[in-house]
Amino acid sequence: DGASSIDMSSLTRQTGLTGLDYGFVNTASTRSAITYIDGEQGILRYRGYNIEDVAANSTFLEVAWLLIYGELPTASELADFDSRVRRHTLLHEDLKRFFDSLPHQAHPMSVLSSAVSALSTYYGDSLDPHDPEQVEISTIRLLAKLPVIAAYAHKKAIGQAFLYPDNSLGFVENFLRLNFGIMAEPYEVNPVLVKALDRLLILHEDHEQNASTSTVRLVGSTGANLFASVSAGINALSGPLHGGANEAVLDMLARIRDSGEGVERFVERVKNKEDGIKLMGFGHRVYKSYDPRAKLVKASVDAVLADLGVSNPLLEIARELEAIALADDYFVERKLYPNVDFYTGVIYKAMGFPTRMFTVLFAIGRLPGWIAHWREMNDDPATKIGRPQQLYIGSPARDWPQR
Ligand code: ACO
Repeated sequence: DGASSIDMSSLTRQTGLTGLDYGFVNTASTRSAITYIDGEQGILRYRGYNIEDVAANSTFLEVAWLLIYGELPTASELADFDSRVRRHTLLHEDLKRFFDSLPHQAHPMSVLSSAVSALSTYYGDSLDPHDPEQVEISTIRLLAKLPVIAAYAHKKAIGQAFLYPDNSLGFVENFLRLNFGIMAEPYEVNPVLVKALDRLLILHEDHEQNASTSTVRLVGSTGANLFASVSAGINALSGPLHGGANEAVLDMLARIRDSGEGVERFVERVKNKEDGIKLMGFGHRVYKSYDPRAKLVKASVDAVLADLGVSNPLLEIARELEAIALADDYFVERKLYPNVDFYTGVIYKAMGFPTRMFTVLFAIGRLPGWIAHWREMNDDPATKIGRPQQLYIGSPARDWPQR
């Protein structure tokens, strides 16, 4: 523990004082060994490895192992992990029919959280969070099935038939085929797409105590199973101030284009807080400099679009917005920089995903982090049920009226 932290629970016991901290701006809810962030310097590390090195040299599943188990896997550990995940991709046929009960216009994030909650009815009810074998099989099941559920949410939205997973394919290949393959037609996996998506997923894998991870931990702290905890995390991620921002960014860029009002005028309206509008994809609770993930996404956006052979005029609007904002006192004084969500949507669009799938992609990326935190919490003997205090500001005690 650094000299700059104090144990509030013992302070509260000793003094009776309660701290009021809206949004937990200054309250650590746990110790964690998974991810390190220095928001002032723009540093992000997974288990001590800089995100730049991780993104350049690893794969999604290898990083998942690193986050969950703490060290890089050996080649045989990774091969075994990969094959176990491949073996568990199938959804129970009854669960496939569960999708029929949802409206086709449902947001894919709601479909995702509902179906993960439904997984709990198959695998979660008797899950003991302290039984290592059960925790292990739940980890594998969730990693294997979430992308399949996500792809079915997509297929449902566009009215196409669900494909069975093809377990001869790797994690990302399989996911792309499930999304873009058509029943009875061959699907050729584009390696450019695979590499680009794998890298984006890596960049989302963990981000310490963000709102959705804190939700997973809070729900898990009650003893709730992994599926129930992650379902809650997906719901927390869906909001536009968190993971939903990637969808909101693209909507914002399209609105600027369609309104013809011009980027400068839009920025003025943001600064005047007209109707409470914000520059979506800008600002971060922790980063007070450029988000290192956004830097990596921005650096690759041109190459990815060129590799995929597509262009997107919204990218120009995004660049113009960034340039104007970074030169403007409003954003400089508040230390508002692009976050990871600012440029990802342009790439997801180029890959062929509909805007409403963007946050679902974030959820697939974030899953290993959620699992790692849920396991770390359950392994930590200091864990207690999460139960914040409040400062009551309501009416003092009063007599029930005579009626
Ligand atoms: N556009 C315009 N102004 C902003 C923005 C923004 N995107 N973000 C913050 N501000 C302003 C606030 O209005 C406030 O100004 P004020 O002091 O004049 O009132 C000041 O900057 C500080 O902002 P807070 O809201 O106190 O910052 P907080 O840490 O609570 O919020 C958050 C962080 C939610 C990310 C915020 O910056 C935001 O809403 N951004 C847009 C949504 C977004 O991109 N979310 C994704 C976050 S990253 C992720 O989840 C992967």
